Amino acid sequence: MKKTGAEPKKEGIDDITYNFKLTEDEEKKILEAKVKILQEQLRLLKSPPLILAEVKEVLNNDEAVVKLENGNQFLVKISLDAGKIEPGDSVFLEQKNLSVVRKTTAKKSFNVEQFVIIEKPKVSWESIGGLDEQIKEVQEVIELPLKKPNLFKDLGIQPPKGVLLYGPPGTGKTLLAKAVAASTKSTFIEIVASELVQKFIGEGAKLVKELFKLAREKSPSIIFIDELDALAARRIDVGTSGEREVQRTFMQLLAEIDGFKPLSKVKIIGCTNRIDILDPAILRPGRLDRLIEVPLPNEKGRLEILKIHTSKMKMKNVDLKKISKATNGFSGAELKSVCTEAGYFAIRENRNYVTEEDFKKAVKKVKKETEEDNSYKTMFG
Ligand SMILES: Nc1ncnc2c1ncn2[C@@H]1O[C@H](COP(=O)(O)OP(=O)(O)OP(=O)(O)O)[C@@H](O)[C@H]1O
Ligand SMILES: [Mg+2]
Repeated sequence: MKKTGAEPKKEGIDDITYNFKLTEDEEKKILEAKVKILQEQLRLLKSPPLILAEVKEVLNNDEAVVKLENGNQFLVKISLDAGKIEPGDSVFLEQKNLSVVRKTTAKKSFNVEQFVIIEKPKVSWESIGGLDEQIKEVQEVIELPLKKPNLFKDLGIQPPKGVLLYGPPGTGKTLLAKAVAASTKSTFIEIVASELVQKFIGEGAKLVKELFKLAREKSPSIIFIDELDALAARRIDVGTSGEREVQRTFMQLLAEIDGFKPLSKVKIIGCTNRIDILDPAILRPGRLDRLIEVPLPNEKGRLEILKIHTSKMKMKNVDLKKISKATNGFSGAELKSVCTEAGYFAIRENRNYVTEEDFKKAVKKVKKETEEDNSYKTMFG
């Protein structure tokens, strides 16, 4: 960049010139003032930096529990001129004995978008097999109020704020949630509850708050909470601080759900494989009070899923009905693996089409993998 004109010279205390004669006394005064300024500058340069921390609790107004960036917590004194300090404030601590010197607005930046997945999914209803009933219910509970809120207003009824999808792994729960986000052109905000619990010790409740704020900003939106049981499991003993923290996060979640209106453009979809351990508080009327079971597909469902995942595959003489008969107990995700594995068997034999034999081998392979997986789980889990 080109400079236009001369830079104004910064004036230090030695640059001041006088064009009149000073008496000795006056000169002394000026020198003393200079010394004072220099001493002050020196003091500032010598003073150690302050430490940024967050206040967790305030005790008797003159002590506080503070948490440093590294997670360490201390009980410290609040200095008299620090002003009113409250839990949640960011404060500066003096280095020597960590006493709270003053409040700051230099808040630790907390950007919830870093911790969630935000997307506009493109999953279509047609790509989901064997779940007609569940699709209908999700459409009724989530799609209809988002698309036609007046229907509910006119009738004077309140649609559920959210649903809970439950069932075994790999049965299409995430798929259903994404499909309804796509069909309503909603922002899909995904958070995995087990991660929330593990990674954000001390920040969970705040994250939940920010999550709902984000959802309102990006509405229409769907908050998708996967593995909800990690957060909302019934707690018998909330003795440990970790458990208390999870409990606090869970309470915040309930408060946020209670706080928004049924016809607002934010919906919640919770997901779990373990409905048996859920705290009934989350299922109370006005919360996730619609339960939708997503079971393993039956024979007809399996056939539909196989058709979906083979729609772009080149096949010769494959009777998918036989395959769906042979895959009792398979989930949608496993059926998808069967199709991929069958393709691999063809590739290994240098064919550009897939045969029924490839599928049979694939079924065996996936079954074996699942069994090994299960015996591993019963051994260790
Ligand atoms: N009903 C289905 N129709 C078509 N594909 C399916 C179906 N169920 C599962 N799949 C396939 O399996 C993959 C995984 O499914 P999804 O993530 O929806 O399972 P989930 O029920 O959410 O499992 P988890 O409980 O482990 O999270 C999907 O991306 C899809 O390819
Ligand atoms: Mg899932």
